[in-house]
Amino acid sequence: MLMPLPQNFSASSATTAANLVSDGNGAAHAEAMRAELQAGLLAAPASAAPKYLYDALGSRLFEAICLLPEYYPTRTEAAIFDANLAQIAQAAGAGTTLIDLGAGNCAKAVRLFPALQPRQYVPIDISADFLAQALAPLRPCFPAIEMTGIGLDFSGSLDLPATVRQENRLFFYPGSSIGNFAPDQAAAFLQRMRAACGADGALLIGVDLVKDKAILDAAYDDALGVTAAFNLNLLRHLNRLLGADFEVRDWRHRAFYNPQQSRVEMHLEALRPLSVRWPGGQRDFARGERIHTENSYKYTMQSFADLLGATGFGAIRSWTDARGWFAVMHARAV
Ligand code: TRP
Repeated sequence: MLMPLPQNFSASSATTAANLVSDGNGAAHAEAMRAELQAGLLAAPASAAPKYLYDALGSRLFEAICLLPEYYPTRTEAAIFDANLAQIAQAAGAGTTLIDLGAGNCAKAVRLFPALQPRQYVPIDISADFLAQALAPLRPCFPAIEMTGIGLDFSGSLDLPATVRQENRLFFYPGSSIGNFAPDQAAAFLQRMRAACGADGALLIGVDLVKDKAILDAAYDDALGVTAAFNLNLLRHLNRLLGADFEVRDWRHRAFYNPQQSRVEMHLEALRPLSVRWPGGQRDFARGERIHTENSYKYTMQSFADLLGATGFGAIRSWTDARGWFAVMHARAV
């Protein structure tokens, strides 16, 4: 669900794209968000949804993570796309309706445009404003591609407006964001994409692969502490959203690969016994008690191909890097 926001396409102006769709139901969202946050903090073990990692500072810190030597996924995936662009474009075919899930600044998809030559580009992101800013300067650069930005939390629904062409839909889901779903949720999400793409549709997806524990541990707990800052920043975001009184200094970042579950787990751990308060609630934490912030499941080529097969996709083509650390897969609806 959550996407890196790389640096190439800075917004030139804050204009809203004319055909950008948003439901605009702000107050109801704010209330639902507070209820969700509160329920997570009161649960045992406590948790906070990973989307709250991405406030303005969090998004910048994630961009910085993508530049770290330890964090290989972003650059490995980019290298796979660069090295195999012609083959990937051939698998996809020209004239697709390219639906970009979690598009952010649209940079990943734009790099594919010259080879892929989509008929329509449909970036979808939870942040409609950010998307509108990214789309505005793109339109004149690619006049042959119809562009329809959609502000939508696609983790809830993949119902697309009628302005999105039915024919030849290609769901684009890079960044191994699929790994941030638990396997049963990933299957459900793939099934929803399968349903939304119709009989002639396809999927182009990035998947991070199982590898040595030391490499995974370092990727999620880097020497500079950028990942720690990114994870800890969630507490400040919660303070603002909920009016909570988290003291960042009372917490530490914990991230490690759990081979039994084939996932990297990210947590925030209390350094001492403490209590956190917010209007309408409070929670005591023992020393060492954690708030679970995200999981990042890792697949093998085979386990992910099996998942695609089980969710209505076939004719799978895969590309990987020389170390076999990451895979890009194209699969057709069957
Ligand atoms: N979705 C990213 C991933 O799974 C996000 C991420 C990277 C992350 N490092 C993190 C989330 C550290 C929380 C903590 O790779």
